[in-house]
Amino acid sequence: MKVLMVCLGNICRSPLADGLLRRKVEEQNLPFIVDSAGTSGFHEGEKADARMIETAKNFGTDLSFLRSRPITKSDLDEFDVIYVMDRNNYRDVIGICSTDEQREKVIPILDLVYPEENRIVPDPYYGGTQGFIDVYEMLDEATDKIISNFKMNGKR
Ligand code: 4NP
Repeated sequence: MKVLMVCLGNICRSPLADGLLRRKVEEQNLPFIVDSAGTSGFHEGEKADARMIETAKNFGTDLSFLRSRPITKSDLDEFDVIYVMDRNNYRDVIGICSTDEQREKVIPILDLVYPEENRIVPDPYYGGTQGFIDVYEMLDEATDKIISNFKMNGKR
């Protein structure tokens, strides 16, 4: 199972989703390839935001090795599922898709936990520490769900 996590900058939300899922699948020896990307290249080559790295570290997840990169068209074929954090990410990723097969891979990540509620993972970039903790809790739950779904039926 190849999973790509996507947000705007690839420095806050998607690196966390990436690092959480990588840690969990490694701990449980599950056959996943996990990566993340941004819909923008604003922060290309940068580490995750220091506040996100710190929050993740406090909860036992290392993000220090991740570097931001923009999503590419080849990602749309390379990955089995592409989880997005909010509606802008959804619109932007759908906007570079050219086939229905690609479009069907694009899933708002909180649909895993709260189907039909159109919930988003809010961008914590301009807020305080609590925003980063809230994002951690949402993505911890969502990545647990990815794993439990995989164990139950071998797919998303
Ligand atoms: P992210 O947060 O999409 O969760 O990585 C952001 C980080 C930086 C910016 C926007 C969103 N920015 O515009 O610089």
